[in-house]
Amino acid sequence: MLTDLIALRDTDAEDIRLLLDTAQSFREILERPVKKVPTLRGRQVVTLFYEASTRTRVSFENAAKIMSADTTSVAASTSSVQKGESLLDTVRNLRAMQIDCLVMRHPQSGAAHMAAQALDIPVVNAGDGMHEHPTQALLDMLTIRQRKGRLEGLTVAIVGDILHSRVARSNLWGLTKVGAKVRFVGPATLLPRDVHRLPVEVSTDLHRGLEGADVVMALRLQQERMERGLLPSLREYSQRWGVSARALEVTKPDCIVMHPGPMNRGVEITDDVADSGRSVILEQVTNGVAVRMAVLYHLLGGEAAA
Ligand code: NCD
Repeated sequence: MLTDLIALRDTDAEDIRLLLDTAQSFREILERPVKKVPTLRGRQVVTLFYEASTRTRVSFENAAKIMSADTTSVAASTSSVQKGESLLDTVRNLRAMQIDCLVMRHPQSGAAHMAAQALDIPVVNAGDGMHEHPTQALLDMLTIRQRKGRLEGLTVAIVGDILHSRVARSNLWGLTKVGAKVRFVGPATLLPRDVHRLPVEVSTDLHRGLEGADVVMALRLQQERMERGLLPSLREYSQRWGVSARALEVTKPDCIVMHPGPMNRGVEITDDVADSGRSVILEQVTNGVAVRMAVLYHLLGGEAAA
């Protein structure tokens, strides 16, 4: 049984499939004119974000609201974190207000795990440093499954700044657990040092990396996490590593293109690809709400625990 959602590396394939199936069944609620079900009535969900976010925070909050939970969002920039309060003191104080679930994003890898150990309520990792972002990978997997009808046997090429990407890591663990193949494609300076110990194919050549891919996922250059000297100029980077219509010529003809957002158009992805019929980028965003509903539902026990 799921008690927290911290990392897909530590999540069973069975639980991953359960979350995807539940999210798929919740998609229908999002199409209704009145988007409200009573499932989590009376529950309090707090989102605590120490890093910028648009999609992730709004979709967690909307997911909770659709299921009738109450939500409070705390941004570290306007909280007592600014006065020097530690992460553990902050989360213990929130818990003391009798909240039922904590969703958190933090720049330090392992932060959500630490909070989960300190609290007796479910904690959801909404991104911890360069480590994991499990709900992003789940929404990516749901989007792929909707378009391709399956995940098993597919080749997913993840392109760009893998080194700093928690999205790449969560997708690697999630996708391989359900039988997809993952390729990390990018310049050697932006690949993790331990990449050869991971269950992944690696390519430092865009052409070879995209060959025969069913899915191409472009990643943002996370310059906020970068040391200097990892990159040539942005212009050179986009010419060599940008996902363009030309670069996609070697993929499977029905290959889809994904991006977790926020996109830097003209850097890691060209405008025409981002807006093309192959792009499923906005479907990913819609699925993000359904996946977060599923995660809150299973962690908070749904109606059974009401
Ligand atoms: C990603 C993140 O924050 O890890 N964004 C997201 O949640 N959709 C990727 C990024 O910031 O580039």
